[in-house]
Amino acid sequence: MKDEKFLINGGNKLFGEVVVDSSKNAYLPILAGCVLSEGKIVLHKCPNFSDINSMCDILRYLGAKVEKIDDILQINCDYFDNFCIPTNLASKVRSSIFMLGAILGRFKKAKVAYPGGCEIGIRPIDLHIKGLKKLGVKIVEKHGYIYCDGSNMTAGTIVLDFASVGATENIMMGAVLTKGTTKIYNPAKEPEIVDLQNFLNKLGAKITGAGGDVITIEGVEKLQGKEYTPISDRIIAGTYIIACAMCGGDITIKNVNPNHNIALITKIDKYACKIDCFDDKIRVIADGRPKSLGRIETQAYPGMPTDLQSQILALQTISKGSCLIVENLFETRFKHVPELIKMGADIHLRDRIAFVTGKEKLYGADVVGMDLRGTASLTLAGLVAEGYTTVYNVHHLDRGYDCFEKALQNLGADIKRIS
Ligand code: EPZ
Repeated sequence: MKDEKFLINGGNKLFGEVVVDSSKNAYLPILAGCVLSEGKIVLHKCPNFSDINSMCDILRYLGAKVEKIDDILQINCDYFDNFCIPTNLASKVRSSIFMLGAILGRFKKAKVAYPGGCEIGIRPIDLHIKGLKKLGVKIVEKHGYIYCDGSNMTAGTIVLDFASVGATENIMMGAVLTKGTTKIYNPAKEPEIVDLQNFLNKLGAKITGAGGDVITIEGVEKLQGKEYTPISDRIIAGTYIIACAMCGGDITIKNVNPNHNIALITKIDKYACKIDCFDDKIRVIADGRPKSLGRIETQAYPGMPTDLQSQILALQTISKGSCLIVENLFETRFKHVPELIKMGADIHLRDRIAFVTGKEKLYGADVVGMDLRGTASLTLAGLVAEGYTTVYNVHHLDRGYDCFEKALQNLGADIKRIS
C-alpha cells in the first residue's frame, strides 16, 4: 500500500531460520513465456510480490485465464483476444517489455507501451528492439507505443552490445516458435536466464547454451503447458546474508543455491561474517564489528550483482575501514545514499562511485525509500541504528519481498509495518 512504512527499533541480533521465496526475476520472464504455450501451465511456489501480481494483471488484460490458489498459479493463454499492453499496465513493471517477444512469437502482432520498473536509470530498450528486428519483426515506435508486425519472423544471429538480461530473455522468447536456428552471442548469463531456458524446454522448446557465451534456439511448432517450479531468489538470500553481517547473530537461510551468490559469499566471508554453505542452505554467523570489503564493482553475472549494491553499501557504513563502491550497471542507483547520510553515514558520491568511511554506529531517523533495493538497504540500516527508524514508501520493497518485516521479526528484529 502506498502510505505504509516500517517502524524499526534497532540493535537486535538475528537468530533462527528463514526460507527464501521464488525468484522475482525468474518468475517474471517465465510468466511472459507462458504466452508461447498452448494449454494450462501450473507454476508452483508463487510468491506474493506486487511485480508478479502486476504481470498477472497484464496477462488477464490480454485475455489469459490466470488463477492463483495458495501459492500455485494456473495460467492458460489460449484465449488471447487482445495484443496491446496499455501504458497504465506496462508502466508498472520493467518486465512488461518481456511480453513483446512472447506475444510476437505466438501471435505475430503486438502493440506495447514503454515499460516501467525501478527508477535507477534511463533503462533503454534499444537492445530489445534491435534483437527483435534481427528476427524479422517490423517495429515502429510512436506516440509512446511500440507497434510490431511479426508476420514474417525469421531465425537470426544476434550479438548483444551489452549482456542485457531483459533483451536476452525477450529475444529467446521471440525465437522459440520461429522456424530455423537463432543464436544469441554475448547473452546475459544470470541463473534466471538458465531457469527460463529450463522452463521453456519443459514445455517443448529447443534451447541450449543459457548461462554460457552463446544461446541457440531451434524453432519448434508449438509448446504444451506443463508444471514448473522457478528457482529461489538469490537477491533475497543475499539480503539476509548482509542483514546478519550487519546485526550480528546466527541465521540459517533455506531454499537457496549458494552457487548463485558466489560473488557475495567469497567477498563477505571472514570479513563481515562466517559463512557455511550446504546444498540448499547457507548458515551465517556474525559477531563484532564487520571489516570493510575494500572495493565493490557491480557487474553482470557472475560478478557482484547490482541488485545487492544498495544492501552492501549499508553494510559498509558501519564496517571498520573505508570502501569504494562502483555501480557499473545503472546511472542513478544511489538514491539511498542521502537517506543513509541522514542516519549518520559518511558517504561521498561522484557519478557512479560511492566512497564510504565506516562509522561505529548509525542513528535512527525518518528515511524515504525510492526504489526496491534501496528501500531494503534503508531497512537493514534501521535494524542496526541506535533508536527508532521510520522507513517510508515500503511499497517499493513489496515489489520483490513478501512480508519482509515478518521474516525479520521471526529472526528477532524489532520491526513492524504501520499505515
Ligand atoms: C534485470 O533488469 C532485472 N529485472 C534487474 O533487477 C537487474 O538489476 C538487471 O536485470 C541487471 O541484472 C528483471 O529481471 C525484471 P538489463 P533489466 O537489461 O533487464 C542497459 C531488481 O531490483 N540496457 O540487464 O532491465 C541498461 O540501461 C531489478 O530486481 C541498454 O542499454 O536489466 C543497464 O545499464 C532492478 N539497452 C544495463 O543494460 C537495453 O535495451 C543492464 O540492463 C537494455 C538494457
